[in-house]
Amino acid sequence: MEQVVKYIKDNRERYIEELKDYIRIPSISTLKSNIPDIKKCSKFVADNLKNAGMKKVKIIPTAGHPLVYAEWMGAPGKPTVLVYGHYDVQPVDPVELWKNPPFEPVIKSGKIWARGADDNKGQNFIHIKSVEAYLKTTGKLPLNVKFLIEGEEEIGSENLELFLKKNKKLLKCDSVLISDTSMYAPGIPTINYGLRGLCYMEIEVTGPDRDLHSGSFGGGIANPINELAKIISKLQNSDGKITIPGFYKDVIKLSPIERANYKKLKYSDKALMKEFNVKELQGEKGYTTLERMSGRPTLDCNGIVGGFIEEGAKTVLPSKASAKISMRLVPDQDPKTISKLFTKYVKSLAPKSIKVEIKDLHGGFPIVMSLDDKAITAASKAVSKAFGKKTVFTREGGSIPIVVDFAKQLNAPVVLMGFGLETDNIHSPNEHFNLKNFELGMLSSVYFFEEFSK
Ligand code: BES
Ligand code: MN
Repeated sequence: MEQVVKYIKDNRERYIEELKDYIRIPSISTLKSNIPDIKKCSKFVADNLKNAGMKKVKIIPTAGHPLVYAEWMGAPGKPTVLVYGHYDVQPVDPVELWKNPPFEPVIKSGKIWARGADDNKGQNFIHIKSVEAYLKTTGKLPLNVKFLIEGEEEIGSENLELFLKKNKKLLKCDSVLISDTSMYAPGIPTINYGLRGLCYMEIEVTGPDRDLHSGSFGGGIANPINELAKIISKLQNSDGKITIPGFYKDVIKLSPIERANYKKLKYSDKALMKEFNVKELQGEKGYTTLERMSGRPTLDCNGIVGGFIEEGAKTVLPSKASAKISMRLVPDQDPKTISKLFTKYVKSLAPKSIKVEIKDLHGGFPIVMSLDDKAITAASKAVSKAFGKKTVFTREGGSIPIVVDFAKQLNAPVVLMGFGLETDNIHSPNEHFNLKNFELGMLSSVYFFEEFSK
């Protein structure tokens, strides 16, 4: 193992250069214009896995973006780990707020700055590179490893879900290893044991059949932006509770033990306010900030458009307005049920003066995992050894929809070994990834393979 660790240290600069090449490919999954980049990126991942010494490397086409699969099964009798990650990234807008062009990675203050640096290229590259270090030095791995790197995580993983159902044998494993979450705090080794689910909706409101002069018609004809704003404002009450009837019906309450564990983490509200420059925090009454951000469901407007949005003023009563609204879910909420309840309630809130159309864009189930598992214990030991501190267990507020399918379809424990930081600006301008976490991540990966092979 020493030579593996030495290889990682000796090849640090080259690894970072390769990560930059990976990041330079603008693999934005939601934009049709970037389909050629998605293809190019899947090839980059496949080639890198091949060069690392992985076998049976395949680019698997789907109805959407391709999957990349690889395996090394040279350790009969030993457990098999399936490493999952995603090579697709989020759009870069608002692009003018980036300090460097989003796909021209820059190294500054020990961090790599670019879209995808953390979410998820930097994080999945950790495991590709730890495997390379093993195979180039010892010629083998201490256990069997499969890789599955997809291109549609940021748009809901629907094609992977289908693939998974049909390829349970191919993907059979004893644990799934994922680095696509955040650490509790800088330097604190963290294993996540939960993810929130998601129900992502779009509301389109139509008033008059064309844009109107707001002077001539304001006061007579309903303004769709005004009406949409009223609808959105009614989705939560002053206690921060979501008002959709039945919304909380399937929510499993936080147990006293869980609440005590949350408390032990000593989350600092002050530090959060300072980091993001806000004067006050808000949310559901009766819960701490950390509970609200990971253990309770939420509703947020992600985007809203309508009317005149260019520079200057134009007096207009627009014909249409729309909003994208996401709800983060916790066990046992079901995204399809929530979607129905949302649709029914929003329709009931709309006055006759407007037409409302509601679309369900995508969703994913929430999960909370048992900590009582060999894979989790091995992972906890591994990150603790790499970072030299005691491991902390947290629930993540974000979502990785495919995790529930892995747990159900493959019947294998999922290890969420995140190396991102809450302040890495994922999905936002100036995304970055701490290179220290990249390095310690590779050590964690090596230690995990070692520990789990025992
Ligand atoms: N890496 C994130 C998940 C995540 C979010 C981890 C926040 C840590 C903190 C993942 O790539 C992601 O963004 N997931 C989406 C899923 C959705 C598009 C279906 C999310 O949570 O919004
Ligand atoms: Mn993401």
